[in-house]
Amino acid sequence: MSEERLKQAKALEIQSGAAVVSSVDNSTQEHTEEKTSSKPENQLSGSLLGWYSVLSSKSIKDGELYHFSMYNEPLIIYRDKDSRVRCIKDLCPHRGASFLGGKIVKGELVCPYHGGRFSAEGECTNLDRLTCQHIIDSNYNNYAKRIHLYQYPCVEQEGYIYIYYSGTAKTNLEDFEIKSSLKDSQPSSYGFKPNEYKYEEVYVDFKCDWARIIENHLDILHIFWIHGDTIPDKDVNRKAITSFNQTIKRSKREIESKYSHKTGDKEEFITLKFIPPGRVCIYKGNPDSARYIQILDHVPLGRNRARVIVRHYRKFLKNKFLTKLIMFKPLQHRIFYKIFSEDYLVLKTQSFNEQMGYIKKDNVKLLGEDKMIQYYWDWYQNALNNERPWDIHHKAPSTNNFHEEAPMLYPPENPKLSNENSREITIQLILRLLIPLGLIILII
Ligand code: FES
Ligand SMILES: [Fe+2]
Repeated sequence: MSEERLKQAKALEIQSGAAVVSSVDNSTQEHTEEKTSSKPENQLSGSLLGWYSVLSSKSIKDGELYHFSMYNEPLIIYRDKDSRVRCIKDLCPHRGASFLGGKIVKGELVCPYHGGRFSAEGECTNLDRLTCQHIIDSNYNNYAKRIHLYQYPCVEQEGYIYIYYSGTAKTNLEDFEIKSSLKDSQPSSYGFKPNEYKYEEVYVDFKCDWARIIENHLDILHIFWIHGDTIPDKDVNRKAITSFNQTIKRSKREIESKYSHKTGDKEEFITLKFIPPGRVCIYKGNPDSARYIQILDHVPLGRNRARVIVRHYRKFLKNKFLTKLIMFKPLQHRIFYKIFSEDYLVLKTQSFNEQMGYIKKDNVKLLGEDKMIQYYWDWYQNALNNERPWDIHHKAPSTNNFHEEAPMLYPPENPKLSNENSREITIQLILRLLIPLGLIILII
């Protein structure tokens, strides 16, 4: 190990409490350096203003309104009369009310303030209600043309709902200049076949900077350490990190890091991908034959407020009955709650350190193993400086914090959901024991 690397390792050792660094052996580091030192040909493109996966298809039914926000801008997703998904700015074009408390009637959005009703295309379909008829002025037709919902392009693909977030909602969807392809970020475009798997999903809200959560999900070292006792995989534990080689590639559409077993055949252990702006895929093995994969979509709701959609696919559990029998859903949820609580402990304090300006280039010393993180930050900082998405809907400290106070989904610090989940597991276990016991008693 070079003197400089030794110094860096020492610094991280001091910061992180030694064990991670001491579990990485020299040859892994040298290998990493060798693989990552050459300048990559391609820089990651992709913009912070682009396609985001913000909701799972099955999470929104006809007649429901899903409120959320992007970079502080309040938005709504709902299904129109043909069940097509629509994403609109949460702002009624009549007098500026929010649609919170509004409803969907026959696929049309109805404002809670004066009952203004809007078609799928965003036109007001009951203008008479707003004008009381007797005060209709000569401008009626003109007014009808001007009053219109503000929308973002919204599509449904492979069980996800995506919006094209540009920062400026428009009355006419045709006015959007779509600059990035959605196809590239689809899991199936990497050889993964979602219909061969069974998946479980949760939404997790964090009170911290969304970019820090992405960093966490790109960080292989922490998985072995902080989640070493939680993830039910014999290859994931505090000692395992010594046995892997790492190869990192950057292309225009992604950053990819592959970890393979150092000994034996060259079989891949984990493949990690970051696909801008907010998707991380973690494959156990090769994407086309992975035993399990996690797709994590990160939604920048606001400063210090981010949502993660976590989908965990498993191959061996396609059968519905088997899935129920071994309690895939509650057991998977239990693992999710534990993992996210473990991460949250670090993420909220790390966000604080970052906002206090403590995480500066000279203050933190990255290792070769952190190259993925470095590439991610290079891309993110660059995109952030060029596009400044947080400045588009800037929120002053005195701004009404209404949306910030909206209930969080599965907040890691709230033990209620995890307790409910544990209760469900206990009840199901008891039932599994009691039913056969009852049958035996009956037979006797
Ligand atoms: S503010 Fe929505 S109908 Fe008046
Ligand atoms: Fe984590």
